[in-house]
Amino acid sequence: MAALELDVRSASAVESFFNSQAPWDHVILAGSSTQVGTVKALPLDQAQDGTQSKFWGAYHVGRSALICEGGSLTFVSGVYAQRPNANAVLQGALNAAVEGLMRGLALELAPAGIRVNAVSPSTTETPLWDRLGPEGREAKFETMRQRLPTGRVAAADDIAHAILYVATNPSATGSTVLVDGGDALV
Ligand SMILES: NC(=O)c1ccc[n+]([C@@H]2O[C@H](COP(=O)([O-])OP(=O)(O)OC[C@H]3O[C@@H](n4cnc5c(N)ncnc54)[C@H](OP(=O)(O)O)[C@@H]3O)[C@@H](O)[C@H]2O)c1
Repeated sequence: MAALELDVRSASAVESFFNSQAPWDHVILAGSSTQVGTVKALPLDQAQDGTQSKFWGAYHVGRSALICEGGSLTFVSGVYAQRPNANAVLQGALNAAVEGLMRGLALELAPAGIRVNAVSPSTTETPLWDRLGPEGREAKFETMRQRLPTGRVAAADDIAHAILYVATNPSATGSTVLVDGGDALV
């Protein structure tokens, strides 16, 4: 096991990283950073940095990842692609773009025997929500418990299970698996 630091916003860093490694069986891109805000209010430089992180990060990994035949590439998108949020319009657009990229790559990489999928969470208990502070985080989670058909906020493990499913199922490609507690329905 090894841990290395990699900023997926940098095409050259992503390319160097994969060129320094043996081909991977399964590549999962979970990391990104985007700022919330309305289109009118979110400063353009922050919107562009979020795009660089979430969309171009996925593009860079899709372009440079060396993956073995029979392997897979999995992106993490997000339910705002299906259910836009007026205070996070950019996230919806970026998640939709990542899913579009995923579907195209599923075709492009199929001849190399590589499958490509996405897993799409709703609100999930991760450090992402720490920016709200303990009370704000709990208030957000309670709102989601009240609204979601499942009545619970997803744990990171719920998302990991879905990633394992798409990464290892030889018939899964071009799929977006919603692990959203039914958020897209309500
Ligand atoms: N949590 C949710 O409720 C939720 C809902 C829908 C979708 N998502 C999506 O799920 C994915 C994972 O989110 P999360 O909840 O795990 O977020 P998180 O708790 O904020 O963690 C983000 C992770 O991404 C890494 N990261 C940020 N920018 C990066 C970059 N440019 N290059 C490489 N790594 C970078 C961070 O590393 P550092 O800590 O070193 O910065 C951190 O490990 C994201 O794409 C997010 O949009 C999350």
